[in-house]
Amino acid sequence: MVNPMRLGVNIDHVATVRNARGGTKPDPVRAAHLAIQAGADGITAHLREDRRHVRDDDITRLRAQIDKPLNFEMAATDEMQKIALKVKPHAVCIVPEKRKERTTEGGLDAIGGYEHLSIFIPPLLDAGIRVSLFIEASPSQLDAAKSLGAQTVELHTGQYCDEIGDARTVELSRILVAAGHAADIGLECHAGHGLTFDTVGPIAAIESIVELNIGHFLIGEAIYLGIENAVRRMRMLMDEARLENGNL
Ligand code: PXP
Repeated sequence: MVNPMRLGVNIDHVATVRNARGGTKPDPVRAAHLAIQAGADGITAHLREDRRHVRDDDITRLRAQIDKPLNFEMAATDEMQKIALKVKPHAVCIVPEKRKERTTEGGLDAIGGYEHLSIFIPPLLDAGIRVSLFIEASPSQLDAAKSLGAQTVELHTGQYCDEIGDARTVELSRILVAAGHAADIGLECHAGHGLTFDTVGPIAAIESIVELNIGHFLIGEAIYLGIENAVRRMRMLMDEARLENGNL
């Protein structure tokens, strides 16, 4: 294998279903175990300010019970920094967060938020946590991420997934160029948001992207296929796209 690609499974929406009724079921930690058994290389969870899906104890249990890296998505707030420093996940992915949005809209503005991030990031790095910034596929945002000391960026694939036809091709080219730029300046490059069985292939084929984080679609498919089959199929599509491109 020359350049395999990791799959991080985001289990947030198992918690969304649990929270619809209260109680403890379905348990996102059980989903994480099953996703790992089916080939996930890591688990991603986004602790939102309003705790609308995963909650603090889910993060603690994931950290204690899963044997693959935990990617902790969080806003750049003091509260989240404190939690990250206590839980010590493998990595944090810093995302923008608006209370009223349904999901993360757009990437973090690493240029506009440079001053705040330059104070926010160092304690995380000092604690040995890898820092990733969830940003738009823009070279200037990547340059800012690099100069802030982030080791990783995650490129937002939401618009690529939302577009069709030529507009999607334009978005794909933007991601391709940005991923190449990330590699050139020494940033590990991830991608995610909105990816499905239909949209994952062209992104998985981009050699300089080494990890995808996928949640909502996989949890939805799990209703029909079971989470293990959904993860296995996604893994297979990623590997096939990589193989066709000569990267595996
Ligand atoms: N990456 C980041 C940074 C995200 O915020 C999300 C959504 O929580 C995802 C990946 C996964 O997106 P989706 O649930 O649409 O697959």
